[in-house]
Amino acid sequence: MKFKSTAIAHPNIAYVKYWGKKDEELRIPLNNSISMNLGNLYTKTTVEFGDFGEDIVIINKNAAEEKAKERVVKHLNRFRNLAKTTLKAKIVSENNFPMSCGIASSASGFAALTIACASSLNLNLNEKELSIMARLGSGSACRSVPDGFTEWSMGTCNDDSYAVSLAPTEHFEIYDLIVIIRDERKEISSTKGMQKFNPYFYARLAEVQENLNFVRKGIIEKNLKALGTYTEKDCISMHTVMMNSGLFYWEPETLKIMKEVWNLRKNGIECYFTIDAGPNVHILCLPDNKETIKEKFSDKFEILESKPGGKARVTGEGLF
Ligand code: DP6
Repeated sequence: MKFKSTAIAHPNIAYVKYWGKKDEELRIPLNNSISMNLGNLYTKTTVEFGDFGEDIVIINKNAAEEKAKERVVKHLNRFRNLAKTTLKAKIVSENNFPMSCGIASSASGFAALTIACASSLNLNLNEKELSIMARLGSGSACRSVPDGFTEWSMGTCNDDSYAVSLAPTEHFEIYDLIVIIRDERKEISSTKGMQKFNPYFYARLAEVQENLNFVRKGIIEKNLKALGTYTEKDCISMHTVMMNSGLFYWEPETLKIMKEVWNLRKNGIECYFTIDAGPNVHILCLPDNKETIKEKFSDKFEILESKPGGKARVTGEGLF
């Protein structure tokens, strides 16, 4: 019996965002969300269950901070319950991108941890079950489990809230150019931020269905205009909700770049922005315009570039 396994998972960028929960503990969201896995960025995680005195959690070469460790141990407990074991675990995890900067490291982190735990404990879980398990760790992580472009159906309970692939990685060559404005840890986590409920949550729910329909259709029909237009709309909608809770994730440069994206578009360079719970701007474009857009911003900012990515998966090369 093997009790050690390594997995890789990509973070994802949401076109239609998840912001707000119906059930905090189970992480059942208020609305469906749609995202693309970011193939050039990844978290790699090795898990070993064995005769350890306590759970050991090492993230990016350092012992995990207390809060992060608690969240990981809670996830390990879910797997120990399933496998009916009390074995402790050693976990080593590494990202190839900066953590907590609006690029959801919790998504790739919990997706990779889920796959590695299930594999090392020889649990025979299918993709739906893996997506459900990942969701319990971090909501957006359920969207990093399936391949390429994915939709998380909010569902009503633990068993029907999970993500499926809408289209595979190769379907549509979209680039996400991430303009890094700040790569420090964000002050208020998504988990905390979305607990600050306010009346604008309901206004957002009234428009989110339309955003989902156009974005889903845009992906399937490879129509960047539809996808991008409604992605921008949804981003602004989510940030309006956030701002009404007193959460201003944008920096002055964020708004400047948003306006420059609009200017580029006016000048025939098709691109669209979206922003998560941080100041960095994700610019979506097709391969033809990628270099022109990068040139526009690269003298002032670091830019991470990614095309669509595959599903979360077991890999051979471990971290210990
Ligand atoms: C703004 O998945 O990090 O990135 O479920 O509490 O762990 P928890 O929240 P998390 O929230 C992600 C929020 C977002 C939008 C998105 O990715 O859909």
